Amino acid sequence: MSLTVKPLANIGAEVSGFDINEPVSDELAAELKALWYEHGMLLIRGQAITPENQIAFSRVFGPLEMHPLKVNTSDENPELFVLENGGDKDQYSTAFYKGEKIVGRLDWHIDLHYTAKPNHGAVLTAVTVAAEDGLTGFGDLAKAYDALDDDTKALLEKLEVAYSFSMQRRHMRYVNLEGYEPGPYSPTKPSDIGFPDFPDAVYPAVHTHPISGRKVLGIVEQFLDRVMTPQQFGLSNDEAIELLERLVAHTRKSDFHYFHQWQQGDLVLWDNWRIMHCTTGTKPGIRRVINRTTIEGNTMLGRVLGAEV
Ligand SMILES: [Fe+2]
Repeated sequence: MSLTVKPLANIGAEVSGFDINEPVSDELAAELKALWYEHGMLLIRGQAITPENQIAFSRVFGPLEMHPLKVNTSDENPELFVLENGGDKDQYSTAFYKGEKIVGRLDWHIDLHYTAKPNHGAVLTAVTVAAEDGLTGFGDLAKAYDALDDDTKALLEKLEVAYSFSMQRRHMRYVNLEGYEPGPYSPTKPSDIGFPDFPDAVYPAVHTHPISGRKVLGIVEQFLDRVMTPQQFGLSNDEAIELLERLVAHTRKSDFHYFHQWQQGDLVLWDNWRIMHCTTGTKPGIRRVINRTTIEGNTMLGRVLGAEV
C-alpha cells in the first residue's frame, strides 16, 4: 500500500491510498505517524468506518484515553466519545450569535487545555453529516509561531500564560463576544452539567513539541486569562493584555486555518499538542454526529497553578 499526500488549503494534508479495513503494518504505522507530526492534521476520505476499526486505527498513534467528562461516552465502546447535535442535549449548547440561534459552536481551543496535560490528539469520523454548517476548523500554532517577528518570539520565550476554566463564555477574556448572548439553558457553573471544576493551568507562551521539536505558540483564545507576573519581564498589565489581544488576533488569521466540511466516510486526525480546533455549530434541529477517539497525552505541557510542591 502506498500513500499519496496532498496538502490541504493552508495547513494539514489529505492522505489517500489507505484503507482502514486493511491491517496496518509497522512500516505503514510509522509512515502515518511521521505524516501526523509533519502536517499536524490529516484527512483520510472514503473509509468504511466502524467504532471498532476507528479504535484500532487510533491506537496506531498511541494509547487511547477516556474523556474525563463521562457525559458523552458510548456504553459499548468506552473509548468512543459521541459528539451529537440535533439530540436532547442541544439546549445546553445553544446560544445566540448576532441574534441567530446556534447549537454547539465552540471557540478555538485545545482539548483538556485546562488540565495542563492536554491529550496528544484525536480522531474524528463522520457518522451523520450535517445537512448544512457543522464545520470543524483546525489552526496550526506551529505555523502561527513561525510567522511571528523575532522581537515577539524573543519576548514569548520568557513568558507564561494562565488559562482559567469557566462554563460561561462571557467570562472568557479573549473570545469574540460581539453579538453573543447565552441561551436560556447555558450552564453557569461546572456542576450544572456534572462537570468537575479545575484550577488555573499555566503554560509557556511558546512550547517545544515533545516529539517533533517544533516551536508551538501557546496562545489559544478559549479560557486564555493572563500573562503571569508580566512586571517581572518588563511589561505593564496594559501591555500584557494588549500583547495577548495581538497574539489572539494573529492566531485567527486564515493563513493558519483549515475548515473541514464533512462528508460520509471522512476521518480526520490532529495533533492536539500543536493544532487548535473549533466548531462552527449548526442551526437548531440539524442532526450531526461525529465519533471521536482520543490519543492519550502522557506529558504535562503546563502546570496546575497552586499544585506545585
Ligand atoms: Fe475539542
